[in-house]
Amino acid sequence: MDKKYKGVIFDLDGVLVFTDHFHYLAWKKLADEEGIYFDEKINDRLRGVSRMDSLDIILERSQKTYTSQEKAALAERKNEYYKSYLTKMTPEDVKEETRKTLEELKNRGYKLAIGSSSKNTKFILNQVHLTSMFLAISDGTNIVRSKPDPEVFLKAALFIQEKPADCLIMEDAFAGIEAGKRGGFKTIAIGQATKDEEADYKVQEFKEILNFLPPLI
Ligand code: BG6
Ligand code: MG
Repeated sequence: MDKKYKGVIFDLDGVLVFTDHFHYLAWKKLADEEGIYFDEKINDRLRGVSRMDSLDIILERSQKTYTSQEKAALAERKNEYYKSYLTKMTPEDVKEETRKTLEELKNRGYKLAIGSSSKNTKFILNQVHLTSMFLAISDGTNIVRSKPDPEVFLKAALFIQEKPADCLIMEDAFAGIEAGKRGGFKTIAIGQATKDEEADYKVQEFKEILNFLPPLI
């Protein structure tokens, strides 16, 4: 690879930690309580998508029309269910491989940042003791438009004072790959996103990203 990047921006859910199933369980409980059909396939569409946009996708299957106040209450309820899972997370929920790879990237001179749609980002990073790894955190609390809009990544690049062209985005969601591309970033896909033809690079294992990011110092 000829291009030398200076920053790496990581999505959180599905890349560094595997909270996807907690999201599923929390939405499923809410959907069951409301009598709305919901399954793992619909859950796949929620990857990378904000809480309120996710709710709108779930409500596509509902007969009832909800007011915006009712929708806010539903989203809040889902988040309570979700947070009850998050409070049980520990540093052991991060793979040793992930931790070592992040350390190595720092040693190689890269600026590391988070670019996540989640408003629970800081809570999760604290739970798993990853906060200190990152120079900057851009998340659902500092954006108005969720992925596939590039805002969250553009803010992350701004926070680490690098141009999008000098940053690599790591994502597990189609919405995230699209956001990266729209923001002028190169993208590296893991998990589900490896099926996305739009991704610039693909990896099966987290540590493979080291192959694309040689030492800068
Ligand atoms: C993303 C998840 O990281 O965060 C989505 O992939 C989720 O599934 C979104 O809806 C928002 O999360 P939160 O924690 O703000 O409800
Ligand atoms: Mg994700």
